Amino acid sequence: MNPQTEIIDGLTRASACISPKYFYDAAGSALFEQITRLPAYYPTRVERQIMTTHGADIAQRIGTGGTVIEPGAGNCEKARALCQLIRPERFVALDISEDFLHQAVAGLRAALPGVTVSAVVADLTHAIALPVDVPMPRRLVFYPGSSIGNFDPPHALALLTRLRRLLDTDGVLLIGVDLVKEEAVLNAAYDDGEGITAAFNRNVLNHVNRLIDSNFEPGQWQHRAFFNAAESRIEMHLEARADTLVHWPGGGRSFVRGERIHTENSYKYRADDFVALLHRAGLSQTQIWSDPANWFAVILARP
Ligand SMILES: C[S@@+](CC[C@H](N)C(=O)[O-])C[C@H]1O[C@@H](n2cnc3c(N)ncnc32)[C@H](O)[C@@H]1O
Repeated sequence: MNPQTEIIDGLTRASACISPKYFYDAAGSALFEQITRLPAYYPTRVERQIMTTHGADIAQRIGTGGTVIEPGAGNCEKARALCQLIRPERFVALDISEDFLHQAVAGLRAALPGVTVSAVVADLTHAIALPVDVPMPRRLVFYPGSSIGNFDPPHALALLTRLRRLLDTDGVLLIGVDLVKEEAVLNAAYDDGEGITAAFNRNVLNHVNRLIDSNFEPGQWQHRAFFNAAESRIEMHLEARADTLVHWPGGGRSFVRGERIHTENSYKYRADDFVALLHRAGLSQTQIWSDPANWFAVILARP
């Protein structure tokens, strides 16, 4: 499905939804970067602490050299730290957010002289094609940030399987996974008092307006984020502040006050359950690193 068809299909369902991949235009990527600096947004901070505390062990298990491939690379900050540890020959950053990706990769090239750095604009929900010159031996797929949590379990399994297929028998996956924890901590991380997450959520409507030529007014929509314990996921929604009619060429939809558009899920795992998912994707976990409070896990797995 092309983006226009996919977005309209989501908006015209009985319960409207927009895929979280549409958060990431240039403004959305910049807002996400601000989110990662918020005190309440623990995932980035805790994952970084784990990578720093266990960096030597991680590097020793992976070994130096080889090729690092990062799907959903964002600002490449975590890859920069990892590459400084394991000094790969090649780094390949994949992301859907084209302008932001090129900017991040330019910064990385300057910081990592001697590493061949490539940017690939790609949508991970489709087949993943790497440039043909990316060597097959000694690949490390680095998928931090618990981005896997944006996929429901069947789609997470499908993505992990696609990532495993990028690896030869000597390849490894290093993946960050957010763990189930106290509900108040989870809710605060996705609904900060400064309103940055709310701005990030509403910005999806600006992106959608550009993609399908619709007339959403982001200010008319209220940010909602909460932990759904039955599904073990944070849900983000946009809630209509008033009855609203939205148009796009060839169609439209009315929303009554209080009606929601579901914009994101962020699944929280128990470590054992995630390891079981890795097994089903043909990957065996070889090491798990966590923080003292067990809020986040960094897992090394092999095909
Ligand atoms: C939660 S951010 C994580 C960024 C970074 N890896 C980190 O850990 O801080 C998700 C990243 O994945 C990208 N992304 C989201 N959906 C994607 C998709 N379907 N295909 C490719 N990239 C995607 C976004 O543009 C964004 O940079």
